[in-house]
This record gives sequence, structure tokens and C-alpha cells, in this order.
Amino acid sequence: MNNVSNLTELESIAKVMVAPGKGILAADESLGTIEKRFVKISVPSTEENRRAYREMLFTSPGIGEYISGVILFDETIKQKTRDGVLFIKVLQNAGVIPGIKVDMGTKEMEGSPNEKVTKGLDGLDGRLQEYVRLGAKFAKWRAVITIGDRLPTGANIRQNARDLAIYALLCQKAGLVPMVEPEVLMDGAHTMERCEEVSRQTLSAVFEELKRAGVAIPGMILKTNMVVPGTMSGQNVRAEDVAAATVRLFKQVLPEELPGQAFLSGGQSEVEATENLNAINKEGPFQWKLSFSYGRALQDSALKTWGGKEENVAAAQQKFLHRARMNSLATLGKYSGEVEV
Ligand code: 13P
Repeated sequence: MNNVSNLTELESIAKVMVAPGKGILAADESLGTIEKRFVKISVPSTEENRRAYREMLFTSPGIGEYISGVILFDETIKQKTRDGVLFIKVLQNAGVIPGIKVDMGTKEMEGSPNEKVTKGLDGLDGRLQEYVRLGAKFAKWRAVITIGDRLPTGANIRQNARDLAIYALLCQKAGLVPMVEPEVLMDGAHTMERCEEVSRQTLSAVFEELKRAGVAIPGMILKTNMVVPGTMSGQNVRAEDVAAATVRLFKQVLPEELPGQAFLSGGQSEVEATENLNAINKEGPFQWKLSFSYGRALQDSALKTWGGKEENVAAAQQKFLHRARMNSLATLGKYSGEVEV
């Protein structure tokens, strides 16, 4: 075992993050990503607009009923409501665990320019300590794996897995639950079978490196993709097919002592992401909890309804809470299209 300071505490935070009926809101869009989202609703990405948008989400009445944790961005973790209350406080008061994105985005991999590696290990330790002081309890690092012509390379999978392991160990030493995110991208014309194969290679390498580094698996959460076809594949699959492939893969590669796995939505529509999660949990129970950590699939309708206008805040919150409730049901395998309306 490693010198993780307080493993029992990390384990209990991890368990609460994936408690039955609850999941995570990913509201950690970087400046570039949130700008892309705001362009769609013709709202300029100013600091004040970003603050107002996140305030709308975090102050949704009863958010803690369905949401166990929120991933914040560096700017957001220091922001306050219009009335001057730190977002961190707002979340704590609502019974929601604050987390933080700690990677610094991706860059081209040396020697393989069509693949990405993640930036942010330099100075990470100091940043983790600052986030702990601010009140964060968990930290996310995203690595992306690209499927393409002769991609991914073994070298790319290995480097991403190693970097994830270094970050995860630093988190546990600092007292933060690592939310380890290897994402096999949906972009491309690859089949669902290819996604399954690459996801298997990726997750196997990630757990190998995590264990080699001495990361305590009971004190972490995995955040990964479902097994789905590439967006340009033309392959039509049912939620049951996604579920069967994803569960088959997880049974092969997820360690039993992992408390839980919270899916990213990765470009799935809101309803698709809920239907797939529900179909997956209908195959349970499993030894690990399978929950959600959605960005777009929790926010798309709310963002559109908000449109940058104060008078739309209550309606936008209802859209967000509705998606949160639908996904909460899906963590229990109790969702059906009939509860959508
Ligand atoms: P999406 O659910 O929009 O993929 O975002 C989740 C996330 O946090 C990606 O890092």
C-alpha cells in the first residue's frame, strides 16, 4: 500500500460520489469549451456571463437530491453568487461535493501528431494543495484516446495511462479523490466493436499503471466512455447493445475494489445518454456503482433555455433538474421514456 494519508476518508468520499440515485455534474468546461457552448446561444463568453451561467446551475433548488458532486473549473471555484456567496459554499450547503478539473487541456503527442496527451503535471502538486485549501474533495484529469487510421498507438495509450497514474497518486497524497478520466473519443467512422477493443486496451493499461504507481483503487473513481460506434460510422445501435458491450468490457477490466465509474456523455444526446445509462444499470447489480458525470447531457437544454437572460433562470433550472432526475432514475435502472414528459 502507498503512503496515502487518509484512505478511509477518500473511500467514503468516493462512495458518496456514486451513491445510488446520484451522479455528478461536469461544469468544468475550460475557457475554450465554454466559449463554444456560448457561441451556440449567441452569448459572449465574459467572466460575468460564465459566472451567471454557473450560478444558475448550482443554485437549482434541490440539486442535492440527484447530484452528489460538481466538477468546477479553476475560474469557477473562486467565483461567487451575485449575492457574494462562494460557489463552493453554495454547493456544500446543498449537500453537493465540490471537485475540480486539474489537467490543463491536451496537446499533440510528440512523434504522433494526430494523437493527444494531457498537459498539467508541472506544478500539479502545488495546485492540488491550493484546491484542498479552497474546499475541493476530488479532482478530475482527462486523457483522450483517438481512434483513426492505425490509431491509437500503443505509445499513446501507455503515456496517457502513466500520466493518469502520476496525477492520481499526487491527488491521493494531497487528500483528494482522483476522478481518473480516460476518454476514447466518439469522433470518427469506427464501429462499436472497434470502440470496445480500444476501450479495453485503454482501461487495461490505465489500471495496470494505477496499480504499479501504488494508487489505492478503493479511493478513486473512474470516468470513462460507454462502448458506442463512432459518430460518422452510420452504425445504428440500441441502448441494449451499448449496455451489453459496455458491461462485458467492464467485467473484464474493472477491478472489483473500484467503488464506481461515472460515465462521460461525450457527444451523446441528452436522452441517449440517459437511455444508455439506464440499459446498463438494468444489467446490474454490479460490484461497482455505474453512474453519470455528464457535461453536455445534463446542460444542453438548460443552456438553451437560459440564453444568457436573468428572466429565464428558473425555467433553465427546471430543465437541468429534469435531466438530473432522469439520470438519477437511470442509475437505478428505473428510467422510462414515459417519465420524460
Ligand atoms: P461530456 O459529458 O459533455 O462529455 O463532458 C464530461 C466531461 O467532463 C469531459 O471531460
